[in-house]
Amino acid sequence: MIGNLNHVAIAVPDLEAAIATYRDTLGANVGAPQDEPDHGVTVVFITLPNTKIELLYPLGENSPITGFLAKNPSGGIHHICYEVDDIEAARDKMLASGARVLGDIKTGAHGKPVLFLHPKDFTGTLVELEQI
Ligand code: CO
Repeated sequence: MIGNLNHVAIAVPDLEAAIATYRDTLGANVGAPQDEPDHGVTVVFITLPNTKIELLYPLGENSPITGFLAKNPSGGIHHICYEVDDIEAARDKMLASGARVLGDIKTGAHGKPVLFLHPKDFTGTLVELEQI
């Protein structure tokens, strides 16, 4: 069911330092920071030849990644995102298989429908599905 790896999201405690690491040390194509108030994050998109990296930095008081950074003060991989053709069919398949779906289908940072799956059902990794 899942297709390409769309992105790996990394939560970072210092956005400028993370940008410098990817842009200057690793020589990657790093975009400008974008505030996503609906998601409580500032996002930086890094475009690689075969996928993307997204740096996530907390925005506002109720950011969903504040707790993650409290547990992982150096930052770390927050979630991975796989592409699917049909997000509703994917949700129904996950529910039928007994996997925990977190919340409802939402519009993600790329303006496409996304869904999050519980890490405990997916080898300890928060999984995002994005309809492409
Ligand atoms: Co994502």
